[in-house]
Amino acid sequence: MYVELIKKRCSVRTFTLDIFSKEKLSEIENILKNVSRTPFNTYGRFKMIKLDQGEGRSLVRAMTTYGVIKNPQYFLVGMINKVTGNLVDFGHSFEKIILDLTALDIGTCWLGGTFNQSIFAKYAQCLADEVIPCVVALGVSASLQSPTDRLIKFMAASHKRKEWKALFFQNNFKDFAVLANHHHQLALEMVRLAPSASNKQPWRILYEDNCFHFYLDRNSSYNRLIDFLNLADLQLVDMGIAMCHLELALLDAKILGQFEFIKGMEQKHYTYITSFRC
Ligand SMILES: Cc1cc2nc3c(=O)[nH]c(=O)nc-3n(C[C@H](O)[C@H](O)[C@H](O)COP(=O)(O)O)c2cc1C
Repeated sequence: MYVELIKKRCSVRTFTLDIFSKEKLSEIENILKNVSRTPFNTYGRFKMIKLDQGEGRSLVRAMTTYGVIKNPQYFLVGMINKVTGNLVDFGHSFEKIILDLTALDIGTCWLGGTFNQSIFAKYAQCLADEVIPCVVALGVSASLQSPTDRLIKFMAASHKRKEWKALFFQNNFKDFAVLANHHHQLALEMVRLAPSASNKQPWRILYEDNCFHFYLDRNSSYNRLIDFLNLADLQLVDMGIAMCHLELALLDAKILGQFEFIKGMEQKHYTYITSFRC
C-alpha cells in the first residue's frame, strides 16, 4: 500500500557501508524499468551508479554531495532531455521509484542542490543533450544520523509540514477543503506528507467536483537563489512529487483518474500546473 510507504519514507543522509545483495540489485533494476505513466507523458532516464567503481576514490566520493551524505555508496542519477524534458514528470517518476525502494527498506534522499553535477554527468554517462536535475542517494540507513544530517533536518524543519488549511481548498481559494469522500481526503493528506526541496511545500490544491487542480505557490526569494546557483527549477519537481502521492494514494483505494490540463484555470497568485480528474 502506497499510503504506508508515503508515511514511512523520510530523507536518509547517513548510510552504513553495507552493499546490496545481488537479489536486491535486481529488484532495484526492475523498479527502474517499470516507470509509470507521467502527467505530461515525458520520461526521464534513471541510472544507478555505485561509487567505488572505476575512479571512485575517496576524494571523489566526498565531493559528490559536498559531504551532505555520510558513506555515500549508491546513487540514482535522473536525466532529462534539455529541450523536451519536463521537470514535473521527472518528479513524478522519481518519487514513484523512491516509494518502491522504500518498500524494499532502502533509505533514500533527494538531492537537487547538494550534488556535484559534473561528477555525476561523467559517472552516469549523461548525454550532451541531457541535464541532471536531481540525484537520489540510496543505501542501507544507519541507525544513528550524522551531525550534518541532524543540522540539515533542523534547518529545513524536515519533520514539519504546513497546515492543511494553508494547502488545500475547495471550490475557491477562500474555503479550505473538507471532503466528504474520505479517500479523497486521505489522498490530500498524502500530498501534505510529500518531500520538497528545502521543505518549501509549494503545492496548493483546489478541489472541485472530483477534480484536483494543482497550483504552484512560487517562493520568489528561493527561486532567485535557485537561479543564482544555476539549479533546475526544483519547485516544478516538487509539484510532480505531490501529484505522484495523490495518484498513488487514490490508486490504493482503487480510484483511477487521469491528468488533464484544463484551459482557463490560471490564477493571479498561483501558477496552474494541471488537474487530476477521478
Ligand atoms: C526536489 C528535492 C530536492 C532536494 N534537495 C536536497 C539537497 O540538495 N540536499 C539535501 O540535503 N536534501 C534535499 N532534499 C530533501 C529535503 O530537504 C527534504 O525532503 C525535506 O526537508 C523534507 O524532509 P523529509 O524528506 O525527511 O520528509 C530535497 C528534496 C526534494 C524533493
